[in-house]
Amino acid sequence: MKYWIITLTLLMAIPFTVCACSHETDEPEITAKPAPAPEPTPEPEPDPEPEGGKVLVAYFSCTNTTKSVAENIAGITDGNLFRIEPQQPYTSADLNYNTDCRANREQNDPSARPAIKGMPENPDEYQIVFIGYPIWWGKAPRVISTFLESGDFSGKTIIPFCTSHSSGLGSSDTDLHPLANDAAWKPGKRFGAGTTKPEIERWIKSLGIDFE
Ligand SMILES: Cc1cc2nc3c(=O)[nH]c(=O)nc-3n(C[C@H](O)[C@H](O)[C@H](O)COP(=O)(O)O)c2cc1C
Repeated sequence: MKYWIITLTLLMAIPFTVCACSHETDEPEITAKPAPAPEPTPEPEPDPEPEGGKVLVAYFSCTNTTKSVAENIAGITDGNLFRIEPQQPYTSADLNYNTDCRANREQNDPSARPAIKGMPENPDEYQIVFIGYPIWWGKAPRVISTFLESGDFSGKTIIPFCTSHSSGLGSSDTDLHPLANDAAWKPGKRFGAGTTKPEIERWIKSLGIDFE
């Protein structure tokens, strides 16, 4: 009898054992969420644009005084030089201001626009444009008006400079503003024939512009 009770008990336990074992072989329940994908490494921010920018030094010069200052400015600012050349070059007779010379006649005519040979290539790449000229009767030569009216200077910074025997800058710089109204104009600067590079460097530094 005792034997039968033990056998019966064992037989009844078998389904639970089988059930428990089969449960262990089931796929485990997925309760945890998958780990989030790692954040992509952010691209490094590009360097901010310097306040300054690429420099063009455009100048008109008949006897090379302005040219020398322009070359110094280009050297100091790592700028590109551009000589503004009239289609008809000025002869010594044209510049003889004690006579009724071509230069005098042009300066006496506000509408005079002597033709120039060309304009700088790729003007869009320049943010800062120095414009140099000799003082002619207190003003910039009319060829500078031709230059300004032939280009698009909107959004650029223009910095005038000039050379003279003895006259100051006067209004020769501000007189030019209406010819390129959309530019940001800086006050001009006058230099004499014997101007040294350190003087020009001091002026450039005083502009407070970062040159590339
Ligand atoms: C037609 C003419 C007018 C001039 N007018 C003046 C003037 O008003 N004041 C002055 O100081 N120099 C005057 N000058 C001298 C020039 O400004 C000076 O020699 C200048 O530095 C020449 O520059 P460049 O060598 O780049 O041509 C005049 C020269 C010319 C040819």
